[in-house]
Amino acid sequence: MYRNFKIVPNIIFGRGCFNQLDGILQERRTDPDTPIIFVLDDVFKGKTLEGRIPLRGKDMILHVNVDDEPKTSYIDELVTLLKETYPVTPAGIIGIGGGSTMDIAKAVSLMLTNPGSAADYQGWDLIHNPAVYHAAIPTLSGTGAEISRTTVLTGPEKKLGINSDYTLYDQIMLDPELLAGVPKDQWFYSGMDCYIHDVESLTGTFLNEFSRAYGEKSIELCRQVFLEDHPERDDKLMMASYFGGMSIAYSQVGACHALSYGLSFVLGTHHGIGCCITFDYLEEIYPQGVAEFRRMMDKHGITLPRNLTANLSAEELDTMATVALGLTPLWENCLGKGWEEQMTRERVLELYRRM
Ligand SMILES: [Fe+2]
Repeated sequence: MYRNFKIVPNIIFGRGCFNQLDGILQERRTDPDTPIIFVLDDVFKGKTLEGRIPLRGKDMILHVNVDDEPKTSYIDELVTLLKETYPVTPAGIIGIGGGSTMDIAKAVSLMLTNPGSAADYQGWDLIHNPAVYHAAIPTLSGTGAEISRTTVLTGPEKKLGINSDYTLYDQIMLDPELLAGVPKDQWFYSGMDCYIHDVESLTGTFLNEFSRAYGEKSIELCRQVFLEDHPERDDKLMMASYFGGMSIAYSQVGACHALSYGLSFVLGTHHGIGCCITFDYLEEIYPQGVAEFRRMMDKHGITLPRNLTANLSAEELDTMATVALGLTPLWENCLGKGWEEQMTRERVLELYRRM
């Protein structure tokens, strides 16, 4: 069976396109008492970008903190706050920020129309009611959150996304100007998330011509950005992120993502840096990708944190391994059917002990 997959229906791309946001939201504004909520990474509090948000009527800027990876409990809190503040369901949720902020905005838009806790929906296709209209405006590129059908959340029991067709954004606004001023480390780690998506997709057993077409273009753009210092690198990275996301949408990620989820579940490591830390130990699985990744790190003077797991208990390491090994499709894509014989619990633990 081939998957019949949905993509984001409305995309606007170009330098300065953020200025068209007010116009785009006009058709959503049918009732003056119904607000639009702008979910904004709190690093932009008081910054120029915040002042450019086209607030009208009862709209709200909802500042969110992404120092930690988004948790299901945090989503529940935000949804309760909105329900207590407004007697009506908002007309739109607009996420402005990096991958975590975009994921929060997706989850909030889903949980405004679906009962219970966000934790109840971690998994595949568990959402039954369409979300509130939601749009994303990335200020950091690489995660592919703008194009993916998931919102990755850490719950009480697992780190797993709410994967559904309703999770997908209704509109994305790709304005490369918004990437200016991103701290170098963050820029690098998020960009490498994209590079790793491409490597995992292009070397995976699930690869098909659809995924290859997007993955090859994305990795070419990553090389121009991270090895060639292309003058239009922000534009290129924004498209690399989108194409990388499209590539994995019809294939899957692999070993690096599986292991990074375990790391992040126990240590709270952010996705981008977590993928970089993990990828650096996977030369046996991705020899060419890891070699090129190291050239990119050298070029940009990036040093990764080490010895993260040195003080962990056997139980914590075991939890990490359980989270990682639970991601069957990722391992199947990476190593094929029968992956369990190659990626034993002992091998996973050994990899974690080295990190
Ligand atoms: Fe990723």
